[in-house]
Amino acid sequence: MARIALIPGDGIGPEVLAEAEKVLGRISEIEDLPLEFDRWPHGADRYLETGSGMEEEEIRRLGAEYDGILLGALGDPRVPGNEHARQILLGLRFQLDLYINLRPVRLLDRRLTPLRDIREEDLDLVIFRENTEGVYVGMGGVFRKGTPQEMAIQEDVNTRFGIERIVRAAFEHARDHDVDRVTLSDKANAMEHAGGLWRRVFQEVGEEFPDIEREALYVDMLAMDLVRRPSRYRVIVTGNLFGDILSDLAAQLAGGLGLAASANLHPGKAALFEPVHGSAPDIAGSGNANPLAAILTSALLLRHLGRRAAADRVEAAVRGAIGANETTADLGGALTTAETGDAVVRRLDSAA
Ligand SMILES: NC(=O)c1ccc[n+]([C@@H]2O[C@H](COP(=O)([O-])OP(=O)(O)OC[C@H]3O[C@@H](n4cnc5c(N)ncnc54)[C@H](O)[C@@H]3O)[C@@H](O)[C@H]2O)c1
Repeated sequence: MARIALIPGDGIGPEVLAEAEKVLGRISEIEDLPLEFDRWPHGADRYLETGSGMEEEEIRRLGAEYDGILLGALGDPRVPGNEHARQILLGLRFQLDLYINLRPVRLLDRRLTPLRDIREEDLDLVIFRENTEGVYVGMGGVFRKGTPQEMAIQEDVNTRFGIERIVRAAFEHARDHDVDRVTLSDKANAMEHAGGLWRRVFQEVGEEFPDIEREALYVDMLAMDLVRRPSRYRVIVTGNLFGDILSDLAAQLAGGLGLAASANLHPGKAALFEPVHGSAPDIAGSGNANPLAAILTSALLLRHLGRRAAADRVEAAVRGAIGANETTADLGGALTTAETGDAVVRRLDSAA
């Protein structure tokens, strides 16, 4: 029995997560995979009532008691600065030390890419973004604030320990998926101290994987080349900031926010899965939210549970629904959120 914590969250979060749950429920019957769901009501409403986003003890329990956490989205204009979202998302990420931000990017239908002359198999890559260091640790400060001489410093934190574990995760993934090259992306020409450390660790860890080619590219070069010839890339490893940007660029090449899935992982410890999009308050309640990103996110969860066949089946059903134009309006279809989820479930059934 796998235990899954569901955090629907805010805005379209509950709408898209309901469809992911529908798909997971059906696949668990088809594939004989017992799943138990617990719903966690954390989000803006609860924060406005109680003043708490998520307590440390709750985060600890989420990490210790569940095989996976599935989150819808967080963000609500009623909460100043989205304090609740920060507490929950950053709390989970840092307290559970979810050091891998995994962003798979796969073109499911060539009509969805803004690139010309590219086939589905030309865009199939995974980005390993370091998720606990870099400029996101919030070190630094401002000096002479509000004066013409104001200055701001934002530190970029890179530890050997932090780099080593994300680089090793990328090589292990490449080895397990028969990928023969790992690409490191950095800015070692301008940021020589951090870049030098990343390159030395990449070299050292890479030597443990002699069958896998190592390549290091400046992030500006890689951004251009991802658009020019994405088929060259299969596994990319990079720091927190560059990973943030590259993964959104790559996601857009495959159809954008309505399809982008992500996982935040600490292997052997805890795993959080979330669609990349936010709570989209502009369309919440309209029935127009695309649930496919959340459904593809649930396929990542299945993969994490070691159920590759079930994950492949969910992805094939999503691909089928897109091919038949059974999608929400953002992908050119005319279905509602729930109808799109039903279309995926029908395809699971017909392939069963
Ligand atoms: N990880 C997260 O939970 C997360 C990520 C990004 C933004 N946010 C929060 O979400 C709120 C809204 O942020 P935003 O508007 O910048 O980003 P957003 O991703 O919520 O929306 C951006 C645009 O994309 C559209 N969109 C997003 N998801 C969609 C879907 N599944 N189907 C169809 N259209 C979709 C929205 O309607 C909007 O026009 C903010 O409070 C922000 O802080 C949360």
